[in-house]
Amino acid sequence: MPREMNTNRDDTMGRFEGKVAVVTGAGAGIGKACALAIAREGGRVVVADIDDSAATACTAQIAAETGHALTLAVDIADAQAVAALFETAERHFGGIDLLVNNASAMHLTPRDRAILDLDLAVWDQTMATNLRGTLLCCRQAIPRMIARGGGAIVNMSSCQGLSGDTALTSYAASKAAMNMLSTSLATQYGRAQIRCNAVAPGLIMTERLLAKLDERLQRQLHRHQLLAHVGRPEDVAALVVFLLSDDAAFITGQVVCIDGGMLAHLPTYADGGNNPAERPVDSVDEAPFAQER
Ligand SMILES: NC(=O)c1ccc[n+]([C@@H]2O[C@H](COP(=O)([O-])OP(=O)(O)OC[C@H]3O[C@@H](n4cnc5c(N)ncnc54)[C@H](O)[C@@H]3O)[C@@H](O)[C@H]2O)c1
Repeated sequence: MPREMNTNRDDTMGRFEGKVAVVTGAGAGIGKACALAIAREGGRVVVADIDDSAATACTAQIAAETGHALTLAVDIADAQAVAALFETAERHFGGIDLLVNNASAMHLTPRDRAILDLDLAVWDQTMATNLRGTLLCCRQAIPRMIARGGGAIVNMSSCQGLSGDTALTSYAASKAAMNMLSTSLATQYGRAQIRCNAVAPGLIMTERLLAKLDERLQRQLHRHQLLAHVGRPEDVAALVVFLLSDDAAFITGQVVCIDGGMLAHLPTYADGGNNPAERPVDSVDEAPFAQER
């Protein structure tokens, strides 16, 4: 069933009127959807991305929808650049209330293999961007949020940080560590009125994945979803808006899955249920269970 995107400011509730948000990796995919959704709720948005032209296009779209946004080019792995980002954002908009740590080194994932096949440079760069970059942004945001009487942070994790896989070792470890970083932040700064939650998406069909995702892998992942439709960036943005808003005023320290039910079932579901006759033709190869231990 086609679902329409909410692009009309009049349909929103103005939940971020007077608030300033920094969204990293806001030039494309989920980050862009978050930046647009926050602006539609009245928030002023710092569109931060390593890709200046992508960020500029997102800012232009927000401006065209009568929102307020500022493009700032940044590599979140670079501590000096992150400090400059927050200083400029504060100077421009007067403070920081909301932060979405969305940027990740997605370009490294095709080289992110199983433990013994892993190039350590991929591990180091993944951790430097996803985990350390998120920490750097949090360290810049927290004192500024405290100065405004509080704030809210969402860290973009992944289902990969909650389940093992045959590859993506570094990515998964970085996302699991981001979950714990979120919990630590929520614990340490809750009394300063800062909430922090992690969001763990399953398969979300961004432009990048639409162009690149192998069809067999796509089918395999869909077979494990409980819902038939694909996940879209706007689905994740709706959750992020909720978690950043006062509607979630009593929610902190959580990891919230948004995966169409990918992690919510037993193996029987994807492999044809308890009736062998219903087994799908493209089910995974059967390896015999070891009978002895
Ligand atoms: N798409 C999915 O299926 C999916 C699933 C689970 C989790 N996620 C997470 O969602 C987030 C966004 O993923 P996406 O699929 O929208 O990615 P995407 O590749 O579509 O967009 C990522 C954006 O981040 C920017 N970026 C990359 N490195 C950066 C850096 N060092 N500094 C600043 N900006 C940088 C890119 O330029 C790009 O605009 C990531 O954290 C990813 O791990 C995505």
